Amino acid sequence: MTAAPKPEILAAFEAAKGFMPVDEGLAFYTAAVEAGALGLPLLEVGTYCGRSAILLADAARAAGVTALTVDHHRGSEEQQPGWEYHDPETVDPEIGLMDTLPTFRRTLHKAGLEDHIVALVGRSPQIAKIWNSPLALVFIDGGHTDEHASADYEGWAPHVAEGGLLLIHDVHPAPKDEFTGQAPYRIYLRALESGAFTEVSATDTLRVLRRVGAGI
Ligand SMILES: C[S@@+](CC[C@H](N)C(=O)[O-])C[C@H]1O[C@@H](n2cnc3c(N)ncnc32)[C@H](O)[C@@H]1O
Repeated sequence: MTAAPKPEILAAFEAAKGFMPVDEGLAFYTAAVEAGALGLPLLEVGTYCGRSAILLADAARAAGVTALTVDHHRGSEEQQPGWEYHDPETVDPEIGLMDTLPTFRRTLHKAGLEDHIVALVGRSPQIAKIWNSPLALVFIDGGHTDEHASADYEGWAPHVAEGGLLLIHDVHPAPKDEFTGQAPYRIYLRALESGAFTEVSATDTLRVLRRVGAGI
């Protein structure tokens, strides 16, 4: 089954700042719609400016569930000034630090999806530590160092319900360049090796896995 977002939602996604290409976005949307049928919330780690969050919120709206998106909004290592993926427009001039929360809010408001998504602002492991509720979908797209990717996997994958989906972004089986590490690839392998997850689909760097057993 593939699900396609309405043209206005796809247009909002394409117009939003962010890093997910359209082919991955369509696979992401299909997975989110499928998972929504479980009747449980859909959660992403790594909001940035709300690009993938548009699709997650729209899938949640269609399923009558809530989307959740986790980010401290201070940017990942590779998004800081002087690095490959830095966008000067994301810096709060008053404090000189990145703050992507205002752009996220504007983006979701313009897309008419504010009521379908809850922003959790803070460090992912800190929020995961107090989270205690099953999720239909977890999308890991936060920090891409081994420390962050492992913490996201260990903090959030346990909450994926039986039959629910675990999505991992930026999975590069071979090193791409000096900026693109393989930590997401390593947690993807770990999930498969655990026996708790099986692969559903691979689209470019997006992997969709399903929970088929207990544990991580
Ligand atoms: C690659 S971007 C997310 C891209 C987004 N999903 C999109 O489609 O455009 C990664 C985000 O993860 C956030 N992040 C990195 N490490 C984090 C952590 N430990 N806790 C919370 N957010 C984190 C960064 O602030 C950044 O906004």
